[in-house]
Amino acid sequence: MKQVKILAIESSCDETAAAVASGLPVKILSSVVASQIKLHQKFGGVYPEMASRAHAEKIIPVINRAVSNRAISNRAKKYFDDIDVIAVTAGPGLIGSLLVGVNAAKTLAYALKKPLIPVNHIEGHIYANFVSENPPPSRLLKKGLRPLLSVRATAGQPLAENPQFPLIALTVAGGHTALILMRRHLDYQILGETLDDAAGEAFDKVARLLNLGYPGGPAIEAAASKLSTNNRQLTTKLLRPMIDSDDFNFSFSGLKTAVLKIVKTKKFNKPALAGEFQEAVSDVLTTKTLKAAQKYQAKSVLLGGGVAANQNLREKLEHQIKKYTDAQIFIPQLSLCTD
Ligand code: KG4
Ligand code: ZN
Repeated sequence: MKQVKILAIESSCDETAAAVASGLPVKILSSVVASQIKLHQKFGGVYPEMASRAHAEKIIPVINRAVSNRAISNRAKKYFDDIDVIAVTAGPGLIGSLLVGVNAAKTLAYALKKPLIPVNHIEGHIYANFVSENPPPSRLLKKGLRPLLSVRATAGQPLAENPQFPLIALTVAGGHTALILMRRHLDYQILGETLDDAAGEAFDKVARLLNLGYPGGPAIEAAASKLSTNNRQLTTKLLRPMIDSDDFNFSFSGLKTAVLKIVKTKKFNKPALAGEFQEAVSDVLTTKTLKAAQKYQAKSVLLGGGVAANQNLREKLEHQIKKYTDAQIFIPQLSLCTD
C-alpha cells in the first residue's frame, strides 16, 4: 500500500512549524520549528500582534526548509511532488497567528491541487503520542542551511508500539486543559475541562507573580529545581483545587490567588513556593487522570500539550498509572510536547 505523505503546518501560538510525515505507522521525515520565545520574552508573555508578524515572516522559509530537508535525504524527489495531503492547525489558538498557517496551507493546497485537512490543536497534542522524533541530524547542519530564528530541524522513526483503545488523554497547555476518553481513532468524549484557567496559564501567571519570566512553565520548573531538601518546609502547603470533586473538571485560578497572597506577605522562599505550586498542579492532574483511567478501564493513558514537558508531572503520572492500573502510559518526548 502506498504510504501517504503529509505536509503539516502549525502556527497557532508562538512557534512557526512545518513537518513532512508518512504513515501508518507515522514516520516524521522532517520537522522544522522556528520559536518566537526571544521575541516575546521582554513582554513577559505572548504579544499577539508580534506573533502574527513573526509567523508571516517565517512561514515560507519554515515550509521550504521542511520539504527540502527531507529532499536532502531523498535526492530524487522534487520538493513538493510527492506530498499527498496538506494538514494545518485550524484552532484553537491566537486568531492572527492561526490565519498565517491556514492561509499558507490553503494557498499550497490550491496551487498543488492537494486535499487540505484542518486539524484541531488539541487533537494534535493527543496524536503526538503516536510519533517520535530523532535528534537533529548533524548532516543538515553541515549543509550550511541559513539559520532562522532558533530553528530546530529533526526527523524520526515510527513508534514500536502505538497506544491502545479505550484510552484516556490528558491534554494540558496554555490555552486549555482537558481529560478526554477515546474509544477509537478520531472519536473524542470530553470527560472534563478547566472551569477557569488552563494549567499552562496558571504556570505562566504564577511565574509572573514570582518574577520568573516567560514561558512560565519551564521557569517554574527551573526555580523549583534549585530547592534544597532542607528548604522544603519553607512554604505553606497550597490547596489542591477540586482534587476530590466527583467530576473530571479542573480549576486552577484559586491556586494562583493563593500564591499571590503568599507573595504579598513578602515572606517566602521562591524555589519552595515554585516547587509546591508545581506539586499541587501535578497532584490534581494525576489524581483525576488516574480516576478516569480506572473508571473507563483504559488500556492506555496519554499525556500531551506544553505542560506535559514538566518533569514533575511526567514522573508522578507515570508512577501512579503504573502502580494503580494495567494501562500503558504514553508521554511524548519533550520536543513533541509543545506546539
Ligand atoms: O501546547 P503549548 O506549547 O501551547 C498552547 O497550546 O498553549 O503549551 C504552552 C504552555 C505554556 O503555558 C507553558 O508555560 C507550558 O505550556 N509549559 C510548561 C512547561 N513547558 C511549557 N509548563 C510546565 N512545565 C514545563 N516544563
Ligand atoms: Zn498547544
